[in-house]
Amino acid sequence: MLEATSSALRDPEEPSDGPVLPTLRFLTCGSVDDGKSTLIGRLLYEQSLIYDDQLAALERDSRKHGTDGDNIDFALLVDGLEAEREQGITIDVAYRYVSTPRRSFIIADTPGHEQYTRNMATGASSADLAVLLVDARKGLLTQTCRHAAIVSLTGIRHVVLAINKIDLTGYDQAGFAKIVADFEAFAAPLGFASLTAIPISARHGVNISERSEKTPWYHGPALLEHLETIDVERDNSTQPFRFPVQWVNRPDLDFRGYSGTVASGTVRPGDEVVVAKSGRTSRVARIVTYDGDRDSASAGDAVTLTLDDELDIARGDVLCDPKDRPEVSDQFAAHLVWMSDDKLLPGRSYLLKLGTRTVPVTITELKHRLDPSTLGERPGKSLSLNEVGFCTLAATTPCAFDPYKTNHTTGAFILIDRITNATAAAGMIAFGLRRATNIHRQGLNVAKLDRARIKHQKPAVLWFTGLSGSGKSTIANLVESRLYAHGAHTVLLDGDNVRHGLNKDLGFTDVDRVENIRRVGEVAKLMTDAGLVVLCSFISPFRAERRLVRELLDEGEFIEIFVDTPLEECIARDPKGLYKKAIAGEIENFTGISQAYEPPESPELVVSRNSETAEQAAARIVKLLIEKGFVDHIDELGDDWSI
Ligand code: ADX
Repeated sequence: MLEATSSALRDPEEPSDGPVLPTLRFLTCGSVDDGKSTLIGRLLYEQSLIYDDQLAALERDSRKHGTDGDNIDFALLVDGLEAEREQGITIDVAYRYVSTPRRSFIIADTPGHEQYTRNMATGASSADLAVLLVDARKGLLTQTCRHAAIVSLTGIRHVVLAINKIDLTGYDQAGFAKIVADFEAFAAPLGFASLTAIPISARHGVNISERSEKTPWYHGPALLEHLETIDVERDNSTQPFRFPVQWVNRPDLDFRGYSGTVASGTVRPGDEVVVAKSGRTSRVARIVTYDGDRDSASAGDAVTLTLDDELDIARGDVLCDPKDRPEVSDQFAAHLVWMSDDKLLPGRSYLLKLGTRTVPVTITELKHRLDPSTLGERPGKSLSLNEVGFCTLAATTPCAFDPYKTNHTTGAFILIDRITNATAAAGMIAFGLRRATNIHRQGLNVAKLDRARIKHQKPAVLWFTGLSGSGKSTIANLVESRLYAHGAHTVLLDGDNVRHGLNKDLGFTDVDRVENIRRVGEVAKLMTDAGLVVLCSFISPFRAERRLVRELLDEGEFIEIFVDTPLEECIARDPKGLYKKAIAGEIENFTGISQAYEPPESPELVVSRNSETAEQAAARIVKLLIEKGFVDHIDELGDDWSI
């Protein structure tokens, strides 16, 4: 099988003359069958970048797998994965390193299949130019528009519209002109710096390396000529200095260095630098590398910096140019390209990875979704796989960043799902939100433990989770009655009740359930601040939000009680007649019937109405509270509480 890597490519001859332009990074994107892989294969072939033995293998492979009769199928050269050959689609981003005598290229070959838009966003983040492929026979598709929108979002300013398979339209000039006009109308608001439309046939080599006489009406450059000569003016080294610290290098007491990769700009010994978050400044003493000290370091260089002063600097801090500092905020607005099969749930906690810093974050609001075919803003409560939206986010601690449009490195982040550890989204920061910056916590004279002490108790949250009809509320009520009867200070928050007031704007979609529990968690926290024992009875079907509440509280305060009554039992009991309706399809999103319930993995206590009475369950809970020392005076409880 042919490997689709740089090893498959022959070294080019040395450049002869002409200015040496910096390496061009470009990505290719298009719908399935638009011919991306064929185009790249054709480029390699025409530039004699393939070894003879590979060519022989390619000819063999083309006969076996190809889609072009006895001719060479160039797509096979680059579609390296067997699976791709079988399915006929490209399924991951592949980077190829190619040089012609005039220029070097790094090509990100990204998939065209609808569900792989996320891979395209990945490939786009470091590219200078995008080659958008369009099938001349099909014209502009929604997918092409979606790609153009993402290309623009990710900051690529140069676009080539490669209108492929022009041979199959009989080299039709009018058809070509129509696609170009359609695209120009669509892309006008995207503000690309250059847009070059080229009629090509990747399969037959029309307008690839040289202008073809098959299209005498076309007067622009051949594709390769354009790629070899375009000036994309990208120079990270002249941007303001940014150095996200990856680790503090302290081999012995005499040496303290900060290691990482320069994200942008240039630094020299003697330069003043500031720690973005603390505002403390110092000067660079040395730039240390394995090969000895250096006079300067620029974007992309991995180095260790030592400073004149001992500052408190940790991993995740960013060293910067004091005269041109990044923003520092815990709230900002950003575009998100959603990459997960699990949709975005505002209110849920994700991990934000921005440079070398990783912090918990929630999406406070989804402002709008982006309609890929019109670029219009659509309202929405959530994002699904491959959708793009504009959101506000709140991190638990302030982070240093630049807007993405001014710095692609310090303005880009990813969101990580805290349960699966998978990348959930790619994000591009638009601007910081100042509203949080001027709000500081007010110090209080009376502390939570003072309030609790006069009540002779320790604050706690008893979190009852389980299916509807499992017995949560019944048990919680019994526990509260007993605690109250013996002088404990309690409050009970019940799902059905809270939904009549504070949360009456919320329904039962997963988005609304997340928000329901987030609000209840905040209220429970306030109640523990008041020194109370808080009983919460909510289905709370998702692990992530139960964990969110646990993390809001102090260590040991959250006591998760799983009311583990089997679904069949709940259906049989059906105290409110809701299961009957849900099974008949009259209630949507009903937990256990048409929506998932994620049982706790390690609850503090499991009770079940299947094997014990509500009283027995309540007794065990009170016993646990006593053992853990949450409530005092409770030793006077009567015999009915013995188990
Ligand atoms: S939660 O999932 O967001 O935690 P919560 O506990 O507040 O739910 O509310 C659940 C109560 O709402 C149930 O006990 C039931 O009486 C009622 N209810 C109405 N519709 C639904 C539904 N689709 N799914 C579950 N419960 C529902």
